[in-house]
Order: sequence, then structure tokens, then C-alpha cells
Amino acid sequence: MIVTIDGPAGAGKSTVAKRLARRLGFGYLDTGAMYRAVALAGERAGVDWSNDADIVRLTETADIRWRGDRIFLDGEDVSGPVRSNEITAAVGRAADHPLVRQHLVALQRIAAEGVSLVTEGRDQGSVVFPDAACKIFLDAAAEERARRRVEDFRARGEKVDFASVLADINRRDREDRSRPVGPLVKPADAVTVNTDGLTIDEVVDQLQRIARSRLASEQS
Ligand code: DC
Repeated sequence: MIVTIDGPAGAGKSTVAKRLARRLGFGYLDTGAMYRAVALAGERAGVDWSNDADIVRLTETADIRWRGDRIFLDGEDVSGPVRSNEITAAVGRAADHPLVRQHLVALQRIAAEGVSLVTEGRDQGSVVFPDAACKIFLDAAAEERARRRVEDFRARGEKVDFASVLADINRRDREDRSRPVGPLVKPADAVTVNTDGLTIDEVVDQLQRIARSRLASEQS
């Protein structure tokens, strides 16, 4: 069974998807990390993102693999580097490119062959797994997402200001929703879970109930 979790940046998808997968005994796929790995490969190779030949070569040569919840690029564990500010700023170029999307959509479908999976991103329920048995759209107000992000930064001892974090969230929302291919949309058959004011455990409990009831109706 496939459980898709789509939603805007900062809604808590990675944390809850990982915990939900563990509770259900399913695999877990963080598709944002795959776009980040392509962005990292492209930046390292100095590709011209407007040159299709460069992008074809990039997608043919960059070896992106999962080992557990770590992502590897050409044999190197890049789970840390893909989260850098530099890659967060550059990843839109990879995510906007139709050839990159085509390549990663194919890899995501291969990853789902013959296994039960919780997969999270922007287009998992709408494009990659339109027949998924359980589709979640995880949402939260931009202000709530910014507040959580500010708390994360502060917990790591980094100083940030709320207005600039909120502006960044709003910019990423615009980018995600206006992407020419694979934009963030709520699939018609997805259940929306709004996480405003909920703890992580409360969200995971809610998702688990939804997934279990879908699983039960699949098996009946
Ligand atoms: O969820 P994230 O911040 O790690 O995602 C990184 C980028 O990749 C972000 O710009 C959205 C994009 N993305 C996408 O276009 N489609 C996906 N399925 C997952 C992420």
C-alpha cells in the first residue's frame, strides 16, 4: 500500500512521515531530498540549468540511492550537505526542470515497486502515485510554519528574525504552487490534515487512524 503525504514547506511532512512509516512498518521516501541531491550534483558539476543537454547528462550520470533513511550521491552520504542553505536556495532550479522531474518520478515509482511505502513531497498523490490507497495533504498556516522554523533555529543556537523566515516560507509557497510541472496541489481524493496547534504525536495519531482505515478497506 502507498501512503502519500504532500503539503507546503515547513508543514512537518518529514517528521510525521518518518514516524508514521515506522508505526505502520512501511518504508519511507523523502522525495524532497532527491531533488536536493540532483541540485547538489548540478551545483558541483557547474551545470547550466537552462541547457537541456547538461541536464540530460546530469540525470544520466548522477547516481542517487537510498540506504535506509540516508541519501547517497555517487556513493557519498549527502544527507547533511543536501540540507545546506546553499542547496535550499538552489533546489528550485532542479525541481522546476521537467527532465529532472521525469527522471525522479521514475526513480520514485521504482522505489515503490513491491513494497508498502509512506512517501512525502509535493506531487506524490497528484502525479507520482495517482492510484495511492491513502493520500494526505498536510497543511499549516504560513505563520505557524514560520514560528516552528524560528523555534528550530533558536534551539540550534542560531539567531533569526520571524519576518524574514515568514517571507521565505511565503516565497517557497509561491514557487511550489506555480511550478510549471509537478506543482503543489491538493489531490481531489486527499484528506487534509491541518496541523495548526497540534503536537507531532497528535498529527501522527491522526494520520495513523486514516491510514489504518484505508488499509482495512483495501483488504476487505
Ligand atoms: O521538502 P523539501 O524542502 O526537502 O523539498 C526540496 C525542494 O524540492 C522544494 O523546492 C520542493 C521540491 N519538491 C518537489 O518539487 N517535488 C517533490 N515531490 C518534493 C520536493
